[in-house]
Amino acid sequence: MSEEKTNSGNGAGSRRQFLKAAGLTGAAAAAGGSAALGQTLTGVQPKAEELPPNVPDWSRYLGEGVADRPYGKPSKFEANVIRRDVEWLTASRQSSVNFTPWHQLDGILTPNGLCFERHHGGAPDVDPDAHRLMIHGLVDRQLMFSMSDIMRMPRVNRVHFLECAANSGMEWRGPQLNGCQFTHGMIHNVMYTGVPLKVLLNEAGLKPNAKWLLVEGGDASGMNRSLPLEKALDDCLVAFKMNGEALRPEQGYPLRLVVPGWEGNIWVKWLRRIEVGDMPWLAREETSKYTDLMADGRARRYTFFMDAKSVITNPSPQAPLKHRGRNVLTGIAWSGRGAVTRVDVTLDGGKSWQEARIDGPIFERSVSRFYVDFDWQGEELLIQSRCHDSTGYLQPTKSELRKFRGVNSIYHNNGIQTWLVRANGETENVEIT
Ligand code: MTE
Ligand code: CO
Repeated sequence: MSEEKTNSGNGAGSRRQFLKAAGLTGAAAAAGGSAALGQTLTGVQPKAEELPPNVPDWSRYLGEGVADRPYGKPSKFEANVIRRDVEWLTASRQSSVNFTPWHQLDGILTPNGLCFERHHGGAPDVDPDAHRLMIHGLVDRQLMFSMSDIMRMPRVNRVHFLECAANSGMEWRGPQLNGCQFTHGMIHNVMYTGVPLKVLLNEAGLKPNAKWLLVEGGDASGMNRSLPLEKALDDCLVAFKMNGEALRPEQGYPLRLVVPGWEGNIWVKWLRRIEVGDMPWLAREETSKYTDLMADGRARRYTFFMDAKSVITNPSPQAPLKHRGRNVLTGIAWSGRGAVTRVDVTLDGGKSWQEARIDGPIFERSVSRFYVDFDWQGEELLIQSRCHDSTGYLQPTKSELRKFRGVNSIYHNNGIQTWLVRANGETENVEIT
């Protein structure tokens, strides 16, 4: 029986044929759309004499020693798992953005080297010994913390997503970018270790008329934003570790603000100054930028929350379907207002929905991972996911969103994403109207 026959088998007999073929030809070359076990889809095909139970070449010689890698890196075969940028979205190398390759990741945590970066004046190299955080304004005691002061205060661990308000911003008027890395890659999900901002503010002592904070970064853009005191006292952190190790320079080393569930812009990096006041400062980033221009020409002033959203990461344009038969559909879902309670997936453009399987820990204001294990025989699919959160909110379609928000917006696009999977497995960014 040839591989070809097995691959195209659709009928009741095909499963049996498939198992038989797999047993016979473990090392067979990958034919497009093959479903047989023991096949590789890309790269060098193994030689029969190196397959188990025989011994491959790399088992015959000693490998590299422990001293050869004081700081570990991924295998060289993973060299294409990288942040990518979009040339026409890159104003300059310093005022720029790159994107998280979600189609190449799994689970809920983003590895430190793959967290998307967004900065307005490049990433400075801050010496932690020379770094200070000042708290002043409407406080009883003006304070200046060194990093070692901060690291001697009670700390906590929290897993949260950071999503730039501009994530999916290019998709407002219609499908544009071909890949979830580009349409949805301005989000990362990290475990932070840090000190609750409340602890630092209490140390300074708040005056009765304190209502707002100005939080300021130590980069060349000196980025600053107004943060309501209520949020600061609720769940904000001053973080110094991400996923267990020091923040990366591009993520704000040595200190960044964590503002769970709120737009990324307010998560000030290289945090150096907090001024306590009684009014918002109307800084550049909250007036000319990061406001939503509505259809009637008026702009929303503060849209802090990132509402419930999700995207299918596989299959997606950068990760087409390659096998017929058994397949795993997966994606990520999140909500700035609480926990993800359920994710629905459709394979037929919304005619029918099924509940996806959420796996892995579920945290408030964190990414959750979902799966649908499905069988594909080459039919065209229109796939979408929609997220429900703990407030009862359901992620809207893009047309529902446009009804309320018009198409002037760049920011806060949490509409449902559609991918078209073609018969050959190739996948495209489309919209159902
Ligand atoms: N903080 C400073 N100091 N400078 C910046 O340019 N960019 C903001 C925010 N904090 C920025 C900053 C924006 S718009 C976003 S989306 C997030 O940081 C990005 O965080 P990341 O680079 O860790 O992904
Ligand atoms: Co941003």
